[in-house]
Formats: sequence, C-alpha cells, structure tokens
Amino acid sequence: MADRRQPRHRGAGRGPSGQPDPSRAGDERPVSRSRSRHRPSRSPAPTPPPPPPEPAPGSLSPDVLGRALLPLRAFLGFTFCFAGLQKLANPGFFQASNPGSIQAQLAGAARRSPIHPLISPLTHLAVPLGVLIALAEVAIGLGTLLGLWQRLAAAGGVALSLLLFLTVSFHSSPYYTGADIVFAFAWTPLLLAGGGPLLSADAAIAARARARRGSRRVSAEEASRREVVLKGTVTAVAAVAGLALGGVAAGVGRLAGGTKSSSGATPLSPSQSASAPNATPSSGGPIAPSGSHPAGTVIGPAKDVPVGGAASFTDPRTGDPSIVIQATAGKFVAFDAVCPHAGCTVGYDQSVAAIICPCHGSQFNAATGAVETGPAATGLTPLTIAKGSNGQLYAI
Ligand code: FES
Repeated sequence: MADRRQPRHRGAGRGPSGQPDPSRAGDERPVSRSRSRHRPSRSPAPTPPPPPPEPAPGSLSPDVLGRALLPLRAFLGFTFCFAGLQKLANPGFFQASNPGSIQAQLAGAARRSPIHPLISPLTHLAVPLGVLIALAEVAIGLGTLLGLWQRLAAAGGVALSLLLFLTVSFHSSPYYTGADIVFAFAWTPLLLAGGGPLLSADAAIAARARARRGSRRVSAEEASRREVVLKGTVTAVAAVAGLALGGVAAGVGRLAGGTKSSSGATPLSPSQSASAPNATPSSGGPIAPSGSHPAGTVIGPAKDVPVGGAASFTDPRTGDPSIVIQATAGKFVAFDAVCPHAGCTVGYDQSVAAIICPCHGSQFNAATGAVETGPAATGLTPLTIAKGSNGQLYAI
C-alpha cells in the first residue's frame, strides 16, 4: 500500500529527473512526509494543554485568590441582584407620589448632590432611568455570581456605587456610615484581580479554549473564534435569564401590591376640586379653618391623614419627599422627610410615635422633628401647612 503512494510523494518538490528541484525546495513539507510514514496513527495523540505559569514566589496562586474572593463575589452578586429585583418588584419605586420613588430621589439629588447640574436634566427621565438602574444592578449581580465578564461587572459595580454615593449618600456623616462608598471600594478587588478560576464562567471558557489550542486539532485562530462564540452564547443566555427574572419580579410585585412604602405612610394626592382655598397656615399647631386665603399649594385632603398616623406628600416647593402627621385629632405637623444623615426617606412609626429613618436608625421627635437618636446630627426640616375650609391641606 505504501509503495503505490510513493511515486506521488517522491514527485512532490522534485524536478523531472527525480532529483530535488532547488526552485521548489521551500515547498518541501515535512509534515506531509511524516504523515505518510506514520499512516496508521493519522490523528496524533492530543497534547495536554500547557500548564498555567507558576505564581511568583510570595504571590497567591489563582486558586487561592479565587477562594479568597469567593465570599466577596457571593455577597456583592446576591446584593446587587436583590437590589435590582426589589426595585422592579416595587410599583412605588416608579410612582412620583411615593416619597421613596426614583422621582423623589432624583429631585432630592438635583438639589443637594455635588453633581446636581448633571442630575437636574435627568429628573424628566426618572422612570426609564429607574428601570435602567434596576436592570444594571441585576446584570452586575448575575455577572458576578456566574463569574461572567467579571472585571466588566466589577467596573459597573464601582461606577454605580460611586454614582449613588454622589447623589444619595454624599452627605452621610461620618462618611463611613453611608453604604455606597463602602460598596464602591468593595468592588475594587474584583476589578483589579478578576474573579479567580473558581465557579467562574470566564475561567471555564478560557480553559476550554486553551485545551483546544493545546490539542492542535484546531488552529489558534479557530480556538479563539470558538471562545468568542461560546462566551457570546453564555452572555445571551444569562441576559435572557436576567430579563425573565426581572419580568417575573415586576409581575409578582404588582400582583402582590408591591412592597411597603419606605415612609410607611399613605401618599396624599391633591384633588382637582380643591381650588377654593380658605385656610389658616399652621406649623405644628391645631389648624383652625377660617376665612383667610393661604398662598399655598394643595397637597391633599386632611381626612386622608389618619388620626395618630401619617401621610406622605411631595413638597411642591422643593420636590422633596415629605410627611404630615396627625398625632391627635386636628393637629397636623409636617416635615421634609429627607434624613439629614444620608438622605434616606424617613417614616412615621405609630407604635413608638416617632419618626424613624430606615437606613441607619436615626429617630426624630414626631412633634418637633428634633433628632433623638443618631447618627443624624440635626433634626428634620419643619414645613408649614394649612388646612382650608374645604378640608384640603396646603403647603405654604
Ligand atoms: S440616612 Fe442614615 S440615619 Fe437616616
């Protein structure tokens, strides 16, 4: 069998005389000769992929680094997924009348943030921006849990945390009590070192491509191309799963009525028939309807503020989330509900008859707004309200 093949091979790269043709010397292909000599083993035994480079003395091996980063990855991945899904599941996050809504938060940031000139134009895009932030959190969280595009996910985590620090928690005092600055720095190990090889889609896909290159069954270019295709496919599947998860969270949240408003108060809504104001301005005292005409803006019907309870509204002058409390019948007080510590929206806790901040537990006097328990250093800003003879409350 080998003899029949010989003339063809001998002729290759030789002149008419059978001697090697110097002009075609470069065409000699040792690989072909070698194949014909070892015909029985047509496919060479796969070569094991090259071992990963040894870590420099004193440095951590990738495995050790991956194990060390695993708890951080799990925490950040879960927390960002949870934060994004919670926003999508809560209809109140997208309702302007809710003090915890994205609209209220943007309005507050447009006044107080050090980057407020950049924030002000975004207040008109609050809902799409809220959806975008929620989806970005889910994407960053999923990428981190799967170890997929880990450095990109970590860069997104740093950027989003810094954005929230500059808009929401910039005024935290002391600064370390604001969570966003801590999150921004917590992402940096994953940004600098990646996620490591443990439970990582990035590492598994790269190892597969390395093995292909090592086997020499496919060219390096083909191995790289397959790596890109595989990573793109995994990314697309993860993106579809993330969108489906977000859709399910939004649907379930609306079916269940959403999560409780962070203020713990019913939102007031101004009625259209409240355009004949006859009221007495009040800031904490009993409201005595009279024939005077307040120059204020209607915030809603007084009957919607339960006796011994509270209702929320948006301060028409500042756009801040605000709270009105009727501790005893006919006695209304109102405060800007933005916590002076780090900007969270406070709520009235009827069980202790005090205003509580859900973020770090500051407590404020429900009658005066004065701080009773820190970390907030100052009290809430009182607002002047009035009850008109038409039963509506007015912000003066
Ligand atoms: S934001 Fe920290 S106590 Fe309110």
